[in-house]
Amino acid sequence: MTDETKRRSREHAVERCRERGIVIPTIAEQRDPRTIPGEIAGRLPGIDMQAVDPLNLFRITWHNDPATGGFGPVNALVIPPELSGVPARIVGLVGRHFPTGAHKVGAAFGCLVPRLVAGEFDPTTQKAVWPSTGNYCRGGAFDSALLGCHAVAILPEEMSRERFEWLASIGAEIIATPGCESNVKEIFDACWEIRKTQPQAVIFNQFEEFGNYLWHFGVTGPAAQEAFAAVAGPRGRLAAWVGASGSAGTLGAGDFLKQTFPGCTITVAEALQCPTLLASGFGGHRIEGIGDKHVPWIHNVRTTDLVAAIDDEATMRLLRVFNEPAGRAALLGRGVARDLVERLPLLGISSICNLLAAIKTARHYELGADDVILTCFTDSAALYQTRLAELTAERGAYSEREAEIDFERRLLGAATDHVRELTYPERKAIHNLKYFTWVEQQGKTVAELNALWSPSFWTDLQAQLPAWDEAIGAFNRDAGVRGSGLGVREEAKR
Ligand SMILES: Cc1ncc(COP(=O)(O)O)c(C=O)c1O
Repeated sequence: MTDETKRRSREHAVERCRERGIVIPTIAEQRDPRTIPGEIAGRLPGIDMQAVDPLNLFRITWHNDPATGGFGPVNALVIPPELSGVPARIVGLVGRHFPTGAHKVGAAFGCLVPRLVAGEFDPTTQKAVWPSTGNYCRGGAFDSALLGCHAVAILPEEMSRERFEWLASIGAEIIATPGCESNVKEIFDACWEIRKTQPQAVIFNQFEEFGNYLWHFGVTGPAAQEAFAAVAGPRGRLAAWVGASGSAGTLGAGDFLKQTFPGCTITVAEALQCPTLLASGFGGHRIEGIGDKHVPWIHNVRTTDLVAAIDDEATMRLLRVFNEPAGRAALLGRGVARDLVERLPLLGISSICNLLAAIKTARHYELGADDVILTCFTDSAALYQTRLAELTAERGAYSEREAEIDFERRLLGAATDHVRELTYPERKAIHNLKYFTWVEQQGKTVAELNALWSPSFWTDLQAQLPAWDEAIGAFNRDAGVRGSGLGVREEAKR
């Protein structure tokens, strides 16, 4: 791309944002919404949290307060020993309160905005293509809708109906590729087809875009630190960050935490039915959003300490425990506090996977009451109501007795099976697996692959974050919108 093309694209993007009254938040503002100017923050309570409204770009933060429509402490749920069966406290950041109902809208922002403000994407002439297993392309379609550009969502045909319905409602073009969650190769093939046939398309491939990693490093990491500070007390020790890997973006928060708390380990969760990191394995599974039969390019494998493979049957059964009346009754009967039971629908399927991986981490490292494990409850059960209905149709109504057994066996009984603590050579072996996807299939070079093994590659990357904010600030100044009549509003189409 020539400098002249970039200059023109940036000018078009500036013009588009000026016309639509779009102000782009900085990463610093998303990290700490108290720094958002009052004239913007003051308007948010009047806007539906899920509305396709440019001001909701400022809600791409962990701090949304659903009760007031303003901002508050980081949204987090503490899972105490009576639910987890381990003495360590497990704290999950709650993704439900992001626009789109999942934190992936942040990853999409991190991939799109640095390119937009640098003139590398022209929203007036180019299509934005979002390859995904669902939540990332919903986030990308949301951002695209705000910018008035054409969005193409690519996702496997077997993902939950809720994802497809939402995408259709927002006006995205949908390409459904064959297979289920783990069929990401088919998504990549669709991207190559688009590259060949549609030169005006820009593919924001979350599995290789460092903007995804960096957004989590710069926003999710500090949010997790804040959630830790809120519960730690004088003796609290941050023991681990646990993240299931889809694109591996969320694991970027682990790198932030590890640098801030050197004792913090990183656990990567995956599906037992597709144990790529555990055993170079493959297979279909039901934990939507994670585990795609490859190692994402942006996974900093060198900082990964533990791999925990989670049986998808456990996640589906616990989805019933947490959401069906019989499940809730069983939990209440076992002494789990009512307000916690009422909040358990905040956990979607991959969130339950993260919870189980956190329990396995606690057992593996024999963590105690002073230890805190942080994880991410990416999306909520709101996106899996059709899965619950399918389970009822397949297996019949759920009884309290079944719920008791599932709670005992699948949650309290989560043990250290299918867990592997990685040695240096084992980390390197997982890193080497990237060769087969990225060099053989996706056009990366061996030199680029080798560069990813160097810790300085990642610290150099992290050092780019302040420049992002400077570029966003300059872009907003050129658009001249900040503080003036903001917001072309379009009511929620959900
Ligand atoms: C529901 C869900 N959980 C977990 C993940 C994994 O997050 P990441 O892609 O950051 O690894 C995703 C990614 O799309 C997701 O949609």
